[in-house]
Amino acid sequence: MPDFSFIQITDHHLLESEGQIREGFVPGYALHMVMKHIAAHVAGKADFILSTGDLVEPPTEAAYACAIRLLGLAPAATAPGPQKVNSEGLHDYPMYFLPGNHDDREMLTRCLFPGSEPVELYNFAFEHKGVQFIFMDWGPESKAVFLRETGNFLYQALQSALPSVIVCHQHVKPIGSRWLDSFIADEIDDFWEIVTARGIREKVLGILCGHAHITYEDEYEGIQILGLRSTAFPFAKTDGPTLILAPPHYRFVSIQNNVLTSRIYRVVI
Ligand SMILES: [Fe+2]
Repeated sequence: MPDFSFIQITDHHLLESEGQIREGFVPGYALHMVMKHIAAHVAGKADFILSTGDLVEPPTEAAYACAIRLLGLAPAATAPGPQKVNSEGLHDYPMYFLPGNHDDREMLTRCLFPGSEPVELYNFAFEHKGVQFIFMDWGPESKAVFLRETGNFLYQALQSALPSVIVCHQHVKPIGSRWLDSFIADEIDDFWEIVTARGIREKVLGILCGHAHITYEDEYEGIQILGLRSTAFPFAKTDGPTLILAPPHYRFVSIQNNVLTSRIYRVVI
């Protein structure tokens, strides 16, 4: 299996124009600076960028048009892509988008994949250089829901002999913040039962999440869990919502010899 790397970014919360302000933050400008940093420092060493959700908030056609314009996206024929980014010196650079709870799945697929049937649940699996990527959907509410359909999809995908990376928006294990941890699915034990089953857990290289707007590393029964700060507005790990002034993060992820490791980059803006 050839080694490769990719880049995770998350929670962009774009508004209808690049310069629009939200709670003192400018999500469009911040994403623009993150992409610029990626292009200058790491894009040449990675195969693609992966966004783990909340591309826009609220979801409107104009907000998705802003995202498409900002990233210079060339539409992809079928979901989940990749899309091709053309901005900040990146040319046709592959990028995948998962919807977050703030995205409208139907609108996102219609805007990003005009030739594709809109989907209600963004569950996809694909192979990249011998590794399976499993995009799984916890639904369009802040609080995750482990739907039976998603459970069946996850179970089936993990029957593959390939090593797998699970990618989702909502987080899967408490991070130590009462309000954020109330968003974890009530059915989370059913999820872990599937993922940690004998013969399965050994194949799971890691789980990448967004949603919490906080960078962290954790594990569950030996399975690595990685969360990431929002590019738009970071939260503090407090029991209620607290915004903090801190530079956006992105995560550079490498898979070598079936081991997933990563490094966080800070983007001072
Ligand atoms: Fe978010």
